[in-house]
Amino acid sequence: MSATNYTEFLAQTKLLTGSDSVYNLADELSKDSDSPLLIVTDKGIKNSGMLDQVLEVLQPLNLEVHIFDDVKPNPTIENTQSIYENHKSNQIKSIVALGGGSVIDTAKAVSILFTNDGPLDKYFGFDLYENSPLPLYAIPTTVGTGSEGGNATVLTVEENNNRFKKLIFGADLFPKVAVLDGKLISGMPGHLVSSTGMDALTHAIEGYVSLNGSVITDALNLHAVKVIGDNILQAYSNTNNITAMNNMVQASCSTGIGMSNGGLGLVHGISHAIGAKYDAPHGIVNAILLPYVLEYNWVSNPEKFSDIANALRVDTVRLTVEQAAKAGVARVFELTEEVGIPSQLNEIGVEEKDIDTLAEMAINDDLYMQPNPRSVSLNDIKRILNKAL
Ligand SMILES: [Fe+2]
Repeated sequence: MSATNYTEFLAQTKLLTGSDSVYNLADELSKDSDSPLLIVTDKGIKNSGMLDQVLEVLQPLNLEVHIFDDVKPNPTIENTQSIYENHKSNQIKSIVALGGGSVIDTAKAVSILFTNDGPLDKYFGFDLYENSPLPLYAIPTTVGTGSEGGNATVLTVEENNNRFKKLIFGADLFPKVAVLDGKLISGMPGHLVSSTGMDALTHAIEGYVSLNGSVITDALNLHAVKVIGDNILQAYSNTNNITAMNNMVQASCSTGIGMSNGGLGLVHGISHAIGAKYDAPHGIVNAILLPYVLEYNWVSNPEKFSDIANALRVDTVRLTVEQAAKAGVARVFELTEEVGIPSQLNEIGVEEKDIDTLAEMAINDDLYMQPNPRSVSLNDIKRILNKAL
């Protein structure tokens, strides 16, 4: 007999939250099981002083520490393979990922390579590698990836002269520990709060209306909509507002756990096509697309879209459910503008001549098309892209 409305919920990451929680990372690591340790990060993080702060936390533990500090945005299989090649002789036992989504996803991919044969492209899909990856300690430095709470890594691959984003999922690809320290990441540029924060809002909204969601993922996603709506403007206008930064980084992680279990939708389907083709920043592409996709999707489930309006503090008292749903979409358009995100894709270099290719790439991405609450055709995607262009 098989269950009806069956879902599985996985969450395996221990979350350390609050200001200065990065110092508690020392309690999670041990010289016996985690050394030699590889820190994976990027130049921006190194220059910000955050890498030095993490090294200071690790210093009393006397671990053998190796550092790779040159992660590129939208990482490729080749990027991750070369990090592994450069460090395989160091007998690495665990990895610390210090950075945004590209860093954490790179670290996850490298953690698989240390225990499984490459190349990684044979592992695209669900649970296809054999051995558990190395333990991963993730310290997100943005407020949007969600990867620190999830069990997937997104990599860019080239096939037939076109670039695609593909995912490896693993039941044991969750980071062992994630540090959500709003004080550590305070003072970051405001535009990073807006782009990554709007990515988190996209995860939360797409997750809440996903066809694969459950009561449990709804709880993680809808509350995240509320927390992000209440905090993103304060965090964007003053990234030293530590309360707002703590709230944002926790809400982002909540959506990461949500998306690992309930999936996403059309925004991510289109944005992965754009991100792969133009090497464009994921958060900004999502933020631009989000209201246009919501405008298309809301009719599929006005009740849930009116919940989103309420979570975003839209006054819906005198509105019908349908009016409330539409008012929620309008609020997302406004919010995008208020946090300084461009309103059109052409402002980030997307060209009209590529719309057919982008729509084709998106519609073939079943991972995101299937959970989308409203069924979608190739022409629907072209229409959305033309509006957003
Ligand atoms: Fe995303």
